[in-house]
Amino acid sequence: MTTAVVEGLGTALPARRVTNDDLARVLDTSDEWIRTRTGIVARRMVDEGTVTGDLAVEAGERALKSAGGGGADAVVIATTTPDQLLPNTAAGVADRLGLGHVAALDLNTACAGFPYGLATGAGLLAIGAASRVLVIGAETLTRFLDPADRSTAVLFGDGAGAFVLGRGEADAPGALGPFELGSDGSASEILTLTAGGSRRPPHSTDLTDDEKYLKMDGREVYRHAVRRMAESLTPLAERAGMTVGDFDAVYAHQANSRIIEAVADRLELPRERCPVTIGEHANTSTASIPLALASAPPNPGDRVALVAFGGGLAWGSALVRWPDLEPG
Ligand code: COA
Repeated sequence: MTTAVVEGLGTALPARRVTNDDLARVLDTSDEWIRTRTGIVARRMVDEGTVTGDLAVEAGERALKSAGGGGADAVVIATTTPDQLLPNTAAGVADRLGLGHVAALDLNTACAGFPYGLATGAGLLAIGAASRVLVIGAETLTRFLDPADRSTAVLFGDGAGAFVLGRGEADAPGALGPFELGSDGSASEILTLTAGGSRRPPHSTDLTDDEKYLKMDGREVYRHAVRRMAESLTPLAERAGMTVGDFDAVYAHQANSRIIEAVADRLELPRERCPVTIGEHANTSTASIPLALASAPPNPGDRVALVAFGGGLAWGSALVRWPDLEPG
């Protein structure tokens, strides 16, 4: 039986590094507050003129190189911050990567995008619509933050990360799956970015700051994030015929070091099995899991659970038998 297999990993970060102290010069905050509440030390930020697609192209190129070269016949981009509403980001990225007229789609499940993107990529492979898929998580969230709102401005960073998925045997290095995905639209108001959609079209002249910028009820998001990520991993393990304790590592969405520690504690997993790499990247939404995997790679052969939570609400997890690869 064949399955989706991870063949390559690539990442991209903007050059500009902004520290907590840099932010504390313009906002009523401090390095100490940000570090102790979130684990964040610094973040990378795009300059004006750099778009999500630019980071996606760089991460995609590196992932293909990490996979030993060659192309892909489908591109899935998980992003909350597309280059624009129309056209999608993925078609332009596929074109710039020289992949030809391949399947190309964006998907938005906010910070849960990477597991959803992997499931979509695996689905394209399973139905024979593609033979090699580039799954990219890419974001420029700092372009959508209210610079005067200290409750969000300190939390996010920009970046991208990508997997190349091919087909292989179910027990091959890199074998991907099972998956667990979920949503709860009844609590959607705790994390929003309203302007620009059909509810509040871009030409609206009376947009409020609450609509123009990312808005978040931090405490509620924290609570749901811990619960949903922890709860996603139990059915994931069951679908794999394992228990959560059998996971060699859990790479969780890097939103807050305390959230990751709370997930580990709730599952009674040793904290060292749940790497925290948020320090230098902050929350990069859909890019955070591949960035974490590249920053602190698992051991080849490890059974690695990937789990994420985001606005929507949306959450998801995926299991991967970590392959012996060099991240690009
Ligand atoms: N600097 C200094 N003080 C700040 C601050 C900042 N950047 N942001 C908030 N504060 C203040 C608050 O105003 C509040 O002050 P008050 O007690 O006088 O009202 C105090 O710090 C505590 O705020 P609180 O919201 O209770 O802090 P917290 O410990 O819950 O941490 C978050 C806040 C945002 C770090 C935390 O709730 C969180 O990480 N939530 C999830 C965010 C997230 O991951 N979002 C994306 C998910 S995909």
